[in-house]
Amino acid sequence: YTAQIDASDLEKGTYPYYMLKEIDEQPAVMRNIIQRYQNAEGRLTVPEELVTAMLEADRIHIVACGTSYHSGWVGKHYLEKIAQIPTEVHVASEFSYNPPLLKGNPFFIFLTQSGETADSRQVLVKVKEWGYPALTITNVAGSTLSREADYTLLLHAGPEIAVASTKAYTAQIAVLAVLSDALGAKIGHDMGIDMVHELGIVANAMEAIIDDKERIAELADIYLPNTRNAFYIGRGLDYFVSMEAALKLKEISYIQTEGFAAGELKHGTIALIEEGTPVLAIITQADMASHTRGNIEEVRSRGANTCVFAMDGLANDNDQIILPAVHPALAPLMTVVPTQLMAYYATLHRGYDVDKPRNLAKSVTVE
Ligand code: G6P
Repeated sequence: YTAQIDASDLEKGTYPYYMLKEIDEQPAVMRNIIQRYQNAEGRLTVPEELVTAMLEADRIHIVACGTSYHSGWVGKHYLEKIAQIPTEVHVASEFSYNPPLLKGNPFFIFLTQSGETADSRQVLVKVKEWGYPALTITNVAGSTLSREADYTLLLHAGPEIAVASTKAYTAQIAVLAVLSDALGAKIGHDMGIDMVHELGIVANAMEAIIDDKERIAELADIYLPNTRNAFYIGRGLDYFVSMEAALKLKEISYIQTEGFAAGELKHGTIALIEEGTPVLAIITQADMASHTRGNIEEVRSRGANTCVFAMDGLANDNDQIILPAVHPALAPLMTVVPTQLMAYYATLHRGYDVDKPRNLAKSVTVE
């Protein structure tokens, strides 16, 4: 008897799929980012020349695809709220042929796990032709987009193998928070928090959720067994996570899922809600919680099967998942974790290959 062992299986260790391994690695990735971005005074920061270059900009354009595009929305929120620089987020393939009006001093951020995505690279090539400064935030040192940009920030997430991106998303958001906070500090408008401490709390919260994964496997069974479609809803940062949660679920389980701004559902899409439609809601932002609760009632009264993920302090007793409390601005780092696990288990229960969904590639190097 000769065992057929594939070297890549060995790296998976005891994990059945890379995706589960990569979900589990997220607390360690957070701690790694803390370590890598800490300066001599113990503060998380980025190189001074990058801070200077970005503070000269009057507008930031974030360019990305897929999951990286979704972390871009959280990045926009940080850059505007903390660093006070107007920021736009663009799908790379749209930007290429339909660029926005560029005036003044724009600065570009390319978000790309692989650093090789052709659609994003196409835009970077143009940006360099136009002579604008660019930063690439990537997981791969020496990748094409890293080499061709003026600045690089690394995700330090370790290789991501599963097609469905998980730890790169949370690493991108953490690095965007560190970057925005460093810019904010320079202009006297930082987040006013101890980032080392708060990211540590996030890492612990991620761990608690991951330790409770059996509960999420159960919820995936209850809410997503035979359904053809599903919705994630939220407001503000929770809306941005809803978009990513929906992508994760649809790309591997093939359940048609939309991530929606909770308040916008009633302006059309609510027509799709029927008896038993799963609607998964995310609540982490105190100022919007009661409004999202209202939207949950709207869909529930039309027959939706609602599953609520709420942060401790904003949760009700009958919510399905009560998430540990973290700093609200950093909530996306934590809330995405149960949605990744929902996607994982829904796919496992359907019997599909979690790591290799049909029609998809890890890195798309054609336009
Ligand atoms: C592919 C992958 C996605 C990924 C996207 C962007 O479509 O399937 O998971 O988010 O590319 O990849 P990047 O490496 O540029 O972040």
